[in-house]
Amino acid sequence: MQFLLISTQSLFRAAEIIRGGGLAAFPTETVYGLGADAFNPAALARVFEVKGRPRFDPLIIHIAETETLEKIADFSALGTERVKKIHLLAEKLWPGPLSLVLPKRESIPPIATSGLPTLAVRLPDHPAAKQLISLSTGAVAAPSANPFGCLSPTRAEHVRDLLGEKIDIILDGGSCRIGLESTVLDMSSADIRILRPGGTPKEAIEELIGNVLDASAAGKGAEAIVSPGMLESHYAPATPFLAYTREAIIKQSAEAGSAFVFFDGESRDAYFTAQKYIAADKPVIRVLSEAGNLHEAAAALFEILHELDKLKVRRIIAQFAPEDGLGAAINDRLRRAQH
Ligand code: TXA
Ligand code: MG
Repeated sequence: MQFLLISTQSLFRAAEIIRGGGLAAFPTETVYGLGADAFNPAALARVFEVKGRPRFDPLIIHIAETETLEKIADFSALGTERVKKIHLLAEKLWPGPLSLVLPKRESIPPIATSGLPTLAVRLPDHPAAKQLISLSTGAVAAPSANPFGCLSPTRAEHVRDLLGEKIDIILDGGSCRIGLESTVLDMSSADIRILRPGGTPKEAIEELIGNVLDASAAGKGAEAIVSPGMLESHYAPATPFLAYTREAIIKQSAEAGSAFVFFDGESRDAYFTAQKYIAADKPVIRVLSEAGNLHEAAAALFEILHELDKLKVRRIIAQFAPEDGLGAAINDRLRRAQH
């Protein structure tokens, strides 16, 4: 495995690897992706194998230009209204953390979409990611570069620790700006639905195309899993993990060996006031955003959870964010991380 900083040379090297059927991890604005040629079934099979990912969990196809969209997605069965909405979202929110689920064309092999008649596609907002996609085959399947069920990587070192020698190259582009995966929006049927909340807030989508449904909270029971990102335990740290509201977290006892992740500085201060414990027993304390900024908090979340996993604390106790904007995606990940 080669571990290289982003440069023209390393981008050419990674593109060559992808064209040859290999696997290249690369940064995007959300999390690091594990890239394979979206047209090569053998390379795609290796992605599932390396991640230990169930074959029923389809991949997201990454493109570098909006023009590629209609080469892999089939708009013919969608009404003009929906096609207009797709174009509007692509125009206003791409490049960006939004994956659109659309009917697929035959050019993408069935293994990429787990046999589904639809595919998820996004145009990432990261210059190196776009260059890599353009230099390889124009369509790169890239799930998050972590073993199935684990925390997504927001740094190249996370990828190295999680997947290491199983892959061919890791491009190091530093920390991911957004730090949470893309929002997955299903536009393949008339009821447009959010399958996974993520880096694009629901509000930003609704401002452009009107109301959309939220399927991400449902799907617990007997219903078929529409998006395996909806599986209850996903994105989980290895350490036992619980999440609480602000009111509840400040009442949690400060057991030595546990770690507290507060949403903002104010909540941490309220906790200290409420607890008055002896300094020697201090738990590990982290704050997602001192000022309570949702963007900062989203970018810090996986970073801090990876760090706490490494510290091998006994338990992580985290605080939910306010539910608006990116808070919905942060809270979704916190709920799923509980175990
Ligand atoms: O931000 C992201 O989306 C990152 C970066 C690398 O771009 N990628 C990512 O990929 O999170 P992954 O494979 O970890 O998550 C893909 C999600 C899964 O929840 C999958 O079920 C859903 O997208 N998905 C993919 N294709 C789908 C389809 N045809 N229908 C419904 N859900 C789909
Ligand atoms: Mg993932």
